[in-house]
Amino acid sequence: MCGIVGYVGEKKATPILINGLLKLEYRGYDSAGIAVIENNNIEVLKDKGRVCNLESIDGIDKLASTIGIAHTRWATHGKPSKENSHPHTDNSKTFAVVHNGIIENYNELRDFLISKGYTFYSQTDTETIPNLIHYYFSKDEINDNNRFLRAVRCACNDLKGSYAIEVISKLFPELCIVVRKDSPLVIGTGNKENYIASDIPAILSFTKNFYLLDDNEYTVITKDSISFYDNNLEKHNKAIKSIEWDASSAEKDGYDDYMLKEIFEQPNSIRETIGSRLKLDEKCDFEDLNFSKEYLSTINKIYIVACGTAMHAGLSGKTIIEKLCKIPVIVDIASEFRYRDPLIDNKTLCIYISQSGETADTIAALKLAKSKGAKTLAISNVIGSSITREADYSIYTHAGPEIAVASTKAYTSQIVLLAILAIYFAEILESSDKETLENLKSDILDLPTKIGIVLDNLEPIKDFAKSVYTQKDMFFLGRGTDYNVALEGSLKLKEISYIHSEAYAAGELKHGPIALIENGVTVIGIITDSSLVEKCISNIQEVITRGAKTLVISNQILPNNHFDYVIDIPSTSCLISPILSVIPLQLLSYYISKNKGLDVDKPRNLAKSVTVE
Ligand code: M6R
Repeated sequence: MCGIVGYVGEKKATPILINGLLKLEYRGYDSAGIAVIENNNIEVLKDKGRVCNLESIDGIDKLASTIGIAHTRWATHGKPSKENSHPHTDNSKTFAVVHNGIIENYNELRDFLISKGYTFYSQTDTETIPNLIHYYFSKDEINDNNRFLRAVRCACNDLKGSYAIEVISKLFPELCIVVRKDSPLVIGTGNKENYIASDIPAILSFTKNFYLLDDNEYTVITKDSISFYDNNLEKHNKAIKSIEWDASSAEKDGYDDYMLKEIFEQPNSIRETIGSRLKLDEKCDFEDLNFSKEYLSTINKIYIVACGTAMHAGLSGKTIIEKLCKIPVIVDIASEFRYRDPLIDNKTLCIYISQSGETADTIAALKLAKSKGAKTLAISNVIGSSITREADYSIYTHAGPEIAVASTKAYTSQIVLLAILAIYFAEILESSDKETLENLKSDILDLPTKIGIVLDNLEPIKDFAKSVYTQKDMFFLGRGTDYNVALEGSLKLKEISYIHSEAYAAGELKHGPIALIENGVTVIGIITDSSLVEKCISNIQEVITRGAKTLVISNQILPNNHFDYVIDIPSTSCLISPILSVIPLQLLSYYISKNKGLDVDKPRNLAKSVTVE
């Protein structure tokens, strides 16, 4: 979950490292630090708190080094403190390391190192790594150029768990060694300079050419060269990738917060997701998929597995796929699926959704399905992300970089992509009539314009946010696919406004939770399915009777309008209505958070990519 940056070149490293860390704060922001090689010594500057605190550390502006590593932390082992911040050094300050991930056997390694005379100043799992490197380096009797690399490889062979690490050494002041296992790491190339980062946006303003590292691929980086080695330290070549993302797409662009910018980007991100995959009067086409009728007909069930918001997108996908393809779909939380011993075989298709493509539980769930013989399909926003490299098939949302911790545009793009995938399957299987599919295609193509209409209607949402931001509890109700949106609205509210909320299938309320409704409690209803309008209204009526304050988001004609607030959204097929009905909810949490004076983009305790279990 932590962010990593590195630089080897001819420019002053410190400003580049800090600039990269600032762009990576969404990965963790409880402490930050850098290490550079200055006058043949390792200088470490770090502290708890945000990256901007680094700039006020005494002497940081005097560092002239042109090589360095940097880290922004989301604490796992050891509370946020200066001692626990990265980079960490070995006892002799010969090696400095930053690390993202978790070393599961760190206690064992610590005991081993203590038995060899090493001491520890932090509670982190990471501090074992520079000391292990030092241990193996000291034991190596061959004093050649590869001694540093051999020591890193030997140390990594002892590590259990996940890691992306950068290592520098005062004995090799011109190079940085990096390696990853189940944690992201990329290398960006420049002219007489090379960059390292856990995520592309951190260095997108410097380069568009990247190497995407594989697990256990040891990489030695100098300003003029990048050399890749396998686990036996055999050298190999690697293809470079050009990333099309525009550097400005990773900036705020005049918006107060990334989240607001990303909400407003949705007309365009949806256009990008649709791309050339869906056209009226033509069959849907995915460049990277070639499913046959023969194969699709053998599928006995589809699993959609993901976490958080991506899992909520999966719930909407289930409704669409079941309706159009007549294949049963089970949606599961990745952290549950991976330990459930799920019933899957070679007739099961498992779809994994992950914006970042780096979520540890989702990747582990994918590996499990593969080991049981299922076909796996990844849906991600990040080209070359870990999940896409594990899956049999990958398709991309192309929503552009999503920086805010609260996911917005990725969610709507994921549902659009699932809808197009469902149409693609249905066309191959001939499981739905042409008219149904053509109507849905037309509705999907109209989404960008309709999202624009929803985004033009901000005032009632701002008003409502102002009237409820001091509340302690809220409820979100919906039936059918509106219930899926209720879940997502409730998650958004919790994560950036810190208001407790619950989402319920509207008909379930009277089976218990209605006991919590009393005067002034806020209830938000979503009503977009014409076949369920009356039922839903009755349920909301039940809470009004008990004193609730209500907001309803709907594209239906609502009889007996007793609601305090109604937000009208354009009508569309109820299969894809979540893409429109979620937007007022995204905005509502945003404005509530602003009213409370909170940091919208960096909510407490959270990080953007959850790369640990
Ligand atoms: O990168 P992923 O889509 O795999 O992330 C999954 C969840 O961690 C993520 O959606 C999380 O729930 C968001 N913070 C929600 O806004």
